[in-house]
Amino acid sequence: MTSESIWEAAPHTIAKIVILEKYLTAWFQILGRTRKKQDLWYIDGFAGPGKYLNYPKGSPVAALAAARSSLLSSKQNWIAQDIRCSFIESDEGRFNSLSQEIKDFENEEKLKFNAINETFVNGLTQIQAEANSPFRLRFPIFAFIDPCGATGVPFKIVSNILAQPTAEILLNFDADGIARIYAAKESANHESILNEIFGDDSWKHRLSIVNSFGKQCREVLALYKEKLRQLKGIRYVFAFEMRTKLNSLNYFLVFASQHPLGLEKMKEAMKAVDQSGEYCFSDARIDQELLFSFNDPSIYAESLHHAFVGRQVSYADCNDFALNETPFLNPKSMLKILEEKGIVTIISNDPKRRKGTFNEEKVLAIHFDNQ
Ligand SMILES: C[S@@+](CC[C@H](N)C(=O)[O-])C[C@H]1O[C@@H](n2cnc3c(N)ncnc32)[C@H](O)[C@@H]1O
Repeated sequence: MTSESIWEAAPHTIAKIVILEKYLTAWFQILGRTRKKQDLWYIDGFAGPGKYLNYPKGSPVAALAAARSSLLSSKQNWIAQDIRCSFIESDEGRFNSLSQEIKDFENEEKLKFNAINETFVNGLTQIQAEANSPFRLRFPIFAFIDPCGATGVPFKIVSNILAQPTAEILLNFDADGIARIYAAKESANHESILNEIFGDDSWKHRLSIVNSFGKQCREVLALYKEKLRQLKGIRYVFAFEMRTKLNSLNYFLVFASQHPLGLEKMKEAMKAVDQSGEYCFSDARIDQELLFSFNDPSIYAESLHHAFVGRQVSYADCNDFALNETPFLNPKSMLKILEEKGIVTIISNDPKRRKGTFNEEKVLAIHFDNQ
């Protein structure tokens, strides 16, 4: 990133904004039709200038566009109150550009927004203190946290957001930057920075000096996911690495939610970008680096089997695995492969059940046999 107020967006930046806009369109529409009289909050913690030299929408403008189109398409089905957006940007020049770019959305019915020229931490504290704060009123919050480096996002703040009853985050996670800080030790003041990022000193026991920098980054990411999963109610945490097909530029996006539908919609947004052909995603596990194949469940069938081998589990357990660990929205295609191979036994209360079909209401349990 440059020090200019407006710069040229790299292709992966544009893809990230496209995913965000698609996701938010679904989020606003679903909650707008179900959350009677509640405001829906979008908080952009590192908002940027609102546009790029080569792309008209920065994340705040993409969010406002998603809000406007959701309100328009929902019409009389809209039962929520307003959509409220807060854009936090610490750099004055970028803040001024942003303030200009969002003017187009003034005077939209049910759409309220403001820009805050502050750091993420101070801006969020300001929002929390307001009388109509979603934190006080317990309204749904989606926070997009998109810093340009490893610092500025204390875990305390992230966990504060996720403690709200309907809260989700999408975080641009700089695993590379964090791994570098870890490697640089005292010269990078690593102890206090890492304590802030992870919320405690668990990194001391979990991270280790390894030969491969890629592996180190994945360790950092795995620990972060673990910390998120330890938060109350956060059952859905999904991290993916996004790459351009032409070069090696990549970054990690981490999504955390209490609700499976959130993760389903996030995957649908990713899949749409994946199918544009320019980008690909890989899962971000320590042990392997697989390119996501949204249409080929065979590799993931193996992981599903591996996760539960020798055990009898519920369909819901398989579903959570599918959501958290694979590109798929449910486990059906993977279970079908495993049943064809004869390495799972389906216990169903439907005597007429056909092999390869998995009605979640009728499947009582699934036994993962040893191969
Ligand atoms: C990666 S850019 C944001 C891009 C934007 N989210 C988008 O998608 O269009 C990060 C922005 O955060 C701003 N920034 C840096 N440190 C910050 C902080 N501590 N709090 C808030 N904003 C910060 C930078 O000035 C920069 O504009």
